[in-house]
Amino acid sequence: MSTDRKPAPPPRRLTDESPRVTVFHSDRAAARALARRIADAVAATPSLVLGLPTGRTPLALYNELASLAARGAADFSQVTTFNLDEFVGIPAEHPGSYRTFMEQHFFSLLHLAPERIHFLNGAAPDPAAECERYEQEIARAGGIDLQILGIGTNGHIGFNEPGPELDARTHRVTLRPETRRSNAALFGGDESGVPAEALSMGMGTILRARAIVLLATGASKASCVERVIHGRVTTAVPASFLQLHADVDVMVDEAAAAKLAR
Ligand code: GLP
Repeated sequence: MSTDRKPAPPPRRLTDESPRVTVFHSDRAAARALARRIADAVAATPSLVLGLPTGRTPLALYNELASLAARGAADFSQVTTFNLDEFVGIPAEHPGSYRTFMEQHFFSLLHLAPERIHFLNGAAPDPAAECERYEQEIARAGGIDLQILGIGTNGHIGFNEPGPELDARTHRVTLRPETRRSNAALFGGDESGVPAEALSMGMGTILRARAIVLLATGASKASCVERVIHGRVTTAVPASFLQLHADVDVMVDEAAAAKLAR
């Protein structure tokens, strides 16, 4: 048996001011560090209000959190959650909905109180009223303490797509072709089955969170991460608006950090 396995390299901090960038040697290491941060925040504030993303990126994070909860190392029973977004026109129980994704990968494993789980209803008869309801629910919960984000390859966060302008509040959005493509796996691999529209927290909703962590892993995110950190604040890269927030951590693996200045 080999005994010369090198210890994993420690994370590297690239910037000390928000957005603070930390590079981990692997996606797993980044997920583990973020799980630890969330568990520590919940230990300090059991009634923490968490904002949550879907996507492939947070799966490792949700696994880590589930195993912390299973070992009794974290108690999420008092936590309140708000998910960022949901597709329009499908019910919560639809196999492709973000609600179903979260039930499978997070809610069913973490023993959250059902009444503290908040989700946009993509099947609401009046989407504008549904968006307004969500804003009010967030306000009633006292605002989001810690917002976790993934990022689309085009720089979107939640479903705030690049364009000439961004919406500040929770709103209805038309999805870009590349975004529908990257969500096709939820709809049996069929891009045309992905709803054309979604409801999403707005950029202002996200930026009102007290603290934000953006998790980005894999080579496909290297270009957008570079633009988020080194580029101008522009609606063409919605995540670049994170530069305006005073408490943002960007946690990346080496592959996603490949284009960042060292
Ligand atoms: C989706 C979600 C985003 C997510 C992004 C990246 O469209 N609306 O919240 O961050 O895609 O997904 P992935 O992590 O699978 O790359």
